[in-house]
Amino acid sequence: MNDSEIVEKIHRLKKERNAVILAHNYQISEVQDIADYIGDSLGLSVTASKTDADVIIFCGVHFMAETASILSPDKIVLMPDINAGCPMADMITADALRSLKKEHQKAKVVSYVNTTAEVKAESDICCTSSNAVHVVESLKDIYEIIFVPDKYLGHYVSTKTNCKMIPWNGYCPSHVKILPEDILRQKKSYPEAKVIVHPECTQLADEALSTGGMYKYAKTSDASEIIVGTEIGMLYRLRKENPDKKFYPASERAVCPNMKLTTLEKILWSLEDMKYLVKVPRDIQVRAKRAVDKMIEIS
Ligand code: 13P
Ligand code: SF4
Repeated sequence: MNDSEIVEKIHRLKKERNAVILAHNYQISEVQDIADYIGDSLGLSVTASKTDADVIIFCGVHFMAETASILSPDKIVLMPDINAGCPMADMITADALRSLKKEHQKAKVVSYVNTTAEVKAESDICCTSSNAVHVVESLKDIYEIIFVPDKYLGHYVSTKTNCKMIPWNGYCPSHVKILPEDILRQKKSYPEAKVIVHPECTQLADEALSTGGMYKYAKTSDASEIIVGTEIGMLYRLRKENPDKKFYPASERAVCPNMKLTTLEKILWSLEDMKYLVKVPRDIQVRAKRAVDKMIEIS
């Protein structure tokens, strides 16, 4: 079967199943092109909760599909490749977080959405890379914050707020490959370019933005050249939707192999076989939803 036959079949099955296809900004170009919605990790889950589709085909990584299941417990959430995980999300477990909470009983727990549902269920509030500072600022009179799992995002937030941060030593293996010298080298090659980076990287930028924030920045800023410090899949969408602007990767090494596991064939098989179901158990879903809802409320 060639790609256009696969695409045709996907469209037909999508209608039959009343399904919607959501794709994260880092997905491969063919997957982005067939998606009904493309977006950042939280934006996609919120979109999922508002759709009247019965089935959500989530093209991203496992914690994102879980977040969709947390927000939409009655919908069928499927991942075309169940092995697409997020190594950073797996760097903290619910057990480890429970121990940390025992050591710091007065602290509140802020967890990045890049965490498992079990970890979210142990958290007071979630945050994304775009609202982390705002979320921490909203915890008035709280002095100590346990921030998991990304030490770079935690550090970024601590430079913008007053609270004492108890960080976790987690990180994104793809974003750590973007080094300050990469940005300096690109800046030398393109001196007029603005620099935007994801907060999961070390900072040397005009703006630190989530992938959704990068999308908006590219559309609305006057900059005609932009150096982009994040996973390279993001460049496809930025270039496609802003053909009059130039985008340069901060580093070609910033590739998330898990984000590349989803293909058109796997989307088709997912619709054919209704696989692979991501369903957060009810007791965890209820507690995790509280932390996600709290973030949505204040954002
Ligand atoms: P965004 O929420 O900014 O899309 O980031 C998700 C992610 O996994 C970044 O590595
Ligand atoms: Fe996880 Fe990093 Fe991949 Fe994002 S880019 S899904 S944080 S491993």
